[in-house]
Amino acid sequence: MSHYSIMNIFLMVFVGCFTMGEARPPCPCSDPKFCQPINNLGSPSDVPRREVFIFSLSKTNWKLYDWDKVTTVVMVGYYNPELLCYAHSKGARAVAIANIPKSNLTSPVLREAWIQKEIKYIQDNYLDGVNVDFEDAIEKDDDKTRDGLTALMKGLYNGLKHLNQNYQVTFDVPWAPYCIDGRCFDINGLATYTDFLFVMSYDERSQIPYECIAWANSAINTTKFGLMQYIQKYSLEPSRLVLGVPWYGYHYPCEKLVGNKCYIKKVPFRDVNCSDAAGREINQDTIRDFLLYNTTTKTPLWDDIAKSPYFTYHATDGSPYQIWYDNPRSLTLKYDFVDQLGLHGVGMWNADALDYSLTPVGEKQRKEMWGALPNYSPRKQENDSNDIPDI
Ligand SMILES: *[C@@H]1O[C@H](CO)[C@@H](O)[C@H](O)[C@H]1NC(C)=O
Ligand SMILES: *[C@@H]1O[C@H](CO)[C@@H](O)[C@H](O)[C@H]1NC(C)=O
Ligand SMILES: *[C@@H]1O[C@H](CO)[C@@H](O)[C@H](O)[C@H]1NC(C)=O
Ligand SMILES: *[C@@H]1O[C@H](CO)[C@@H](O)[C@H](O)[C@H]1NC(C)=O
Repeated sequence: MSHYSIMNIFLMVFVGCFTMGEARPPCPCSDPKFCQPINNLGSPSDVPRREVFIFSLSKTNWKLYDWDKVTTVVMVGYYNPELLCYAHSKGARAVAIANIPKSNLTSPVLREAWIQKEIKYIQDNYLDGVNVDFEDAIEKDDDKTRDGLTALMKGLYNGLKHLNQNYQVTFDVPWAPYCIDGRCFDINGLATYTDFLFVMSYDERSQIPYECIAWANSAINTTKFGLMQYIQKYSLEPSRLVLGVPWYGYHYPCEKLVGNKCYIKKVPFRDVNCSDAAGREINQDTIRDFLLYNTTTKTPLWDDIAKSPYFTYHATDGSPYQIWYDNPRSLTLKYDFVDQLGLHGVGMWNADALDYSLTPVGEKQRKEMWGALPNYSPRKQENDSNDIPDI
């Protein structure tokens, strides 16, 4: 209780008046135990399990996900009780995603109303928690909004953990901590009031202050640099970070192609004149189609600094385009950071960017992409710990 200020208690009672008395909907799962939040610990070992944290945008693809890999699924833009029960039967968490308008952050009353609404949503739907995806800019000198965001996460975190320690609260942060895209967040505050931060190690070209050319969406050097900034500059335990990788790339029209260098149109973003907004995001399934049908290079080129694949193709009118993306080879190099740096796991935006058709090419892509993920599933960990001989 010490976490709550008098003001917060007042607000909770105030907001509570509107929500009290409504019965919780019945458990949607055939087995009532699947309506319990998943335990924090990887049973039976006492090691908190690592994460394969996935964002799901499709109501229907989830049956084809690799449930030996998934540890948490974020349902984005939908709620499916069937998925919730299934995830729980596999020992995986199912969580909501949430955001708040920036202008609401400075009002304690609006914050508390939001927190109570989110908690009710999680409880009513038997979810395991929530991922907060706030990506607006907060300027360096805007302490009021920045502190409002931290206060929001504090209230949400304390409110949920008070109800059940197993609830999971996470927050999405940009690839590096220092005001990327104008997002000057209170990193240490956000880390304190979450189980972990999901580092979005993509869209790394959202602000290009140097030569205006197409380059990697998730370069290995930039990704590592960003992670190290969180760990060294903000003294975060690596285990507070989950590395988020893209299952998508960028498709750029080249204004000029010089060798393999694709000069792109200058499209400004948040005070920088050149950005990846000159291109468009393109999912893994479409990238595969471009490679199959639109380029004579059947094997992509490889940028050895970014450790990323890319290729150029010419449209029927002769104009050049370049596609920068990730494949199992480039992703594996990034997944390896978990062991190298001691991170809490990996995740991707997003699980549905693959070809989910029941065709040989679809099955091949799913097998390769899901197959490249590390395996931290609870059942794997159970098996691992069973391997430890009794002393
Ligand atoms: C933000 O605040 C406005 C009132 O200013 C309110 O109507 C709205 O529901 C709030 N939004 C959220 C997501 O809390
Ligand atoms: C990564 O490499 C590119 C290309 O050499 C360079 O422009 C960029 O500054 C590097 N990033 C970091 C964070 O070192
Ligand atoms: C961005 O473009 C504007 C207009 O062309 C120019 O005045 C400004 O100096 C540029 N800024 C940078 C940082 O290059
Ligand atoms: C890519 O190839 C397909 C199949 O040949 C064709 O229909 C499509 O127009 C091509 N797209 C581009 C952008 O060239």
